[in-house]
Amino acid sequence: MSFNRKSTSTDVLQGIDLSGQTILVTGVNSGLGEQTLQSLASHGAHVIAAARTLEKAQAASRHFPDNTTALACELSDLATVSAAAEQVKQQFGQLDALVCNAGIMALPSLQQSQGLEMQFMCNHVGHFLLIQKLLPLLEKAPQGRIVLVSSDGHKHTVKGGINFANLSGEQGYDAWKFYGQSKLANILTARTLSKRLQNSSVTANALHPGVIRTNLSRNMAGLMSTVIGLFAPLFEKSVAQGAATQVYLAAHPDAAQYNGQYFADVQPKQTSQHGRDDALADRLWAFTDDFLGTHL
Ligand SMILES: NC(=O)c1ccc[n+]([C@@H]2O[C@H](COP(=O)([O-])OP(=O)(O)OC[C@H]3O[C@@H](n4cnc5c(N)ncnc54)[C@H](OP(=O)(O)O)[C@@H]3O)[C@@H](O)[C@H]2O)c1
Repeated sequence: MSFNRKSTSTDVLQGIDLSGQTILVTGVNSGLGEQTLQSLASHGAHVIAAARTLEKAQAASRHFPDNTTALACELSDLATVSAAAEQVKQQFGQLDALVCNAGIMALPSLQQSQGLEMQFMCNHVGHFLLIQKLLPLLEKAPQGRIVLVSSDGHKHTVKGGINFANLSGEQGYDAWKFYGQSKLANILTARTLSKRLQNSSVTANALHPGVIRTNLSRNMAGLMSTVIGLFAPLFEKSVAQGAATQVYLAAHPDAAQYNGQYFADVQPKQTSQHGRDDALADRLWAFTDDFLGTHL
């Protein structure tokens, strides 16, 4: 079956019963994460609903009391991410999919966590740690899936794609380029994972959901906001259309054939040159692994 930019997360799951599957989604209290939780849970999956706080996760899962588990997971705090992963390991024997959806965009001024610029920490490092910790559970599923919600914003990044000399942001900070860098990191992580997992039953893919009006734009102000507001009706998707690609990659049987791909509009799509740079992907993997080794 083929889907397109108008397909919704309901369309891509039509006729599909996800009973017996367990899927973890980050950032479930808002926007695409909330829609993803609702679509997966209403088709019978057990959704581990992760949000920054337990209260937010519980509120987001209230409509599905029988097939959700609320989980606190603040991605910019590595100890919390580790604790969340441990809780999942204790409660669940396998994980069918992990949807790394949570994200922040274009923080107006430099913020840091554990010495790293905040978008890189939250969008990339926190999810990288969650993936590493939960990989054993994904390997226990018949066909585990890792889905990284990236953005076409990865094309607008810092010089060289990832600037390893300035991951703190202290040598100069640009809100949009640092967002792009963190979203490029999602694509490169999926690429490296797909190679490392080649002989396993687990796949990893990244995606651009489209342009959707959500709380993500909370930091956008001034000219950018006005311009986007004016032209948005021409290209904007609904939240249900925005969530379609990640829901498809996480749960549609046909998506099992894809590994190491970048998707948009529920179709494979080409990334930027940096997104296909294996040397950059290897360097990012080594950096993140080392960072976690010394900061956990
Ligand atoms: N909307 C778009 O047009 C668009 C385009 C391209 C890519 N994306 C990507 O799509 C994903 C979902 O975005 P959205 O549009 O649904 O935005 P959203 O409505 O702002 O939702 C983002 C979610 O991420 C959570 N989050 C943020 N920082 C976190 C942290 N440190 N730890 C744990 N959770 C955190 C937020 O929690 P709080 O509410 O508690 O902050 C919220 O639940 C993001 O990765 C974004 O980059 C979106």
